[in-house]
Amino acid sequence: MSEKQRIRIAPSLLASDFSRLAEQVQMVEAAGADMLHLDVMDGHYVPNITFGPVVVQKLRPHSRLDFDAHLMITDPLVYAPKFVKAGANGITFHIEVCPDPTEMIRLLRGLGVRVGLTLNPPTDVELIRPFVELVDLVLVMTVHPGFGGQKFIREMIPKIETVRSWLRDDQLLQVDGGIYPGETCRAVLDAGANVIVAGTAVFAADDPAEVIELLRRGPAPAAQDTFGS
Ligand code: DX5
Ligand code: ZN
Repeated sequence: MSEKQRIRIAPSLLASDFSRLAEQVQMVEAAGADMLHLDVMDGHYVPNITFGPVVVQKLRPHSRLDFDAHLMITDPLVYAPKFVKAGANGITFHIEVCPDPTEMIRLLRGLGVRVGLTLNPPTDVELIRPFVELVDLVLVMTVHPGFGGQKFIREMIPKIETVRSWLRDDQLLQVDGGIYPGETCRAVLDAGANVIVAGTAVFAADDPAEVIELLRRGPAPAAQDTFGS
């Protein structure tokens, strides 16, 4: 498998113990994470509030992980540069707050970070189609944004497949919400995802390194039929 297409695991800090953030980030880094998914919520776009650029800036010296900021906020144009300055390597914003994302894409390109575009479960995938070729990453939400620990929405699988059919090899296809080793992970990998966000699955695990490895490898292939041997 090429470097571009390898499976990346992005634990979501939302599910960590906020009373010891630096330690939790170092824990998932040591456990083999590829990225740190930072769920930024403003209490407007979603009915929850998490953290702002100061927290990202304070965490930055504690980790070499790729910081992957998922902005669930109404004003990404205003706040994206602050998260980049704080140390984010990539910014993912919602089409629902940027019906014409070209300005946002231009801004992020100018800042030299990974450009990610995402959409909520009820949002028509056709809305992102004209902009897909302009971004580095597409995130297909597999839960409604706002909270960790929700149930995976199975109906998103065809949407993942559709986006995969539009992407080049050098673009990433991320999925986020309700994903665990086993059935959900297998379904999203089979549909073509190559960046798996997992919050609860990783941070609530007894052995996060094992969970990260299971997510990355996907479930073992079905046992070979030994008929005739
Ligand atoms: C939901 C967030 C997700 C969420 C994933 O708004 O975007 O990143 O934290 O958490 P789990 O894996 O617990 O569903
Ligand atoms: Zn997220």
